[in-house]
Amino acid sequence: MSNTPDVVRTVKELRGITAEWRRDGEASALIPTMGALHEGHLSLIDLAHEHADRSVVSIFVNPKQFSPAEDLATYPRDEEGDLEKLYERDADLVYIPDGPEMYPPDFSTSIGVEGMSQSLCGASRPHFFGGVATVVAKLLIQAQCDYAVFGEKDYQQLLVVRRMARDLNIPTEILGAPTVREDDGLAMSSRNQYLSRQDREMAPHLYAVLENVAESIRAGVAVGKALHEGVQVLAQAGFDVDYLELRDGRTLEPIDALTESSGRIFAGAYLGKTRLIDNIAV
Ligand code: PAJ
Repeated sequence: MSNTPDVVRTVKELRGITAEWRRDGEASALIPTMGALHEGHLSLIDLAHEHADRSVVSIFVNPKQFSPAEDLATYPRDEEGDLEKLYERDADLVYIPDGPEMYPPDFSTSIGVEGMSQSLCGASRPHFFGGVATVVAKLLIQAQCDYAVFGEKDYQQLLVVRRMARDLNIPTEILGAPTVREDDGLAMSSRNQYLSRQDREMAPHLYAVLENVAESIRAGVAVGKALHEGVQVLAQAGFDVDYLELRDGRTLEPIDALTESSGRIFAGAYLGKTRLIDNIAV
């Protein structure tokens, strides 16, 4: 027995296995990733196994969600290391399609989720959520699992995927999983490995500021004032702030005061060339 999980690289093999599980009465869950796996990704497998008997982790660095100016070529890749981690975490199957399996040369379809995709991360990365929605729709249709798990770390992505699956009647239930953090509060991310030592020391400020702003708002400080102060603290710490905003956590609509249940603060900021995002419920 080798120390790697079962790996398939084509839609046909993937479908064959998930269909067999279905025939055996086993529920399955898909965990889409771009690899360079860390504890945040692996926690999604644990959640999958709370709902389903079987898990499939996909690894595909999706070119459609990177702009030409972004880090597609240098995005961290470590298939061997990923397979080891997935074996240890009891993933049942790993799906690693290559580029042409996902996007044949005459691939012509794109999926856009209007409204929700345009703000926050979508404002500065206009290509991003279209690329995500298109690849996730494909993965859901390819795998035909009962569930798919996404992290709240990428909260806007979770909502966009949920809306897309509902709009297209894709019969896979979308589950959200809590953000896994380093001991100092920094949300785990494959891109954290780009950070210089100095920037890595500054990075936890992003979460600390989210916590402080949330506390101020809960204590009754005006939302605009609390957010403005948060931006200033981040700028002083060396962040180039893209956005820091309070939104409704169900719809992503801007709100300027706390509603009964679901205010959420979202932040996107650069440290050097590295883009960090984070969000917390207020
Ligand atoms: P990737 O960044 O590899 O993340 C894969 C999944 O892991 C996403 O659902 C993401 O929200 C989740 N995740 C990442 N860091 C996390 C953390 N610290 N805590 C909890 N969950 C975390 O997101 C993508 O890939 C891609 O956009 C993808 C959905 C695979 C489509 O290409």
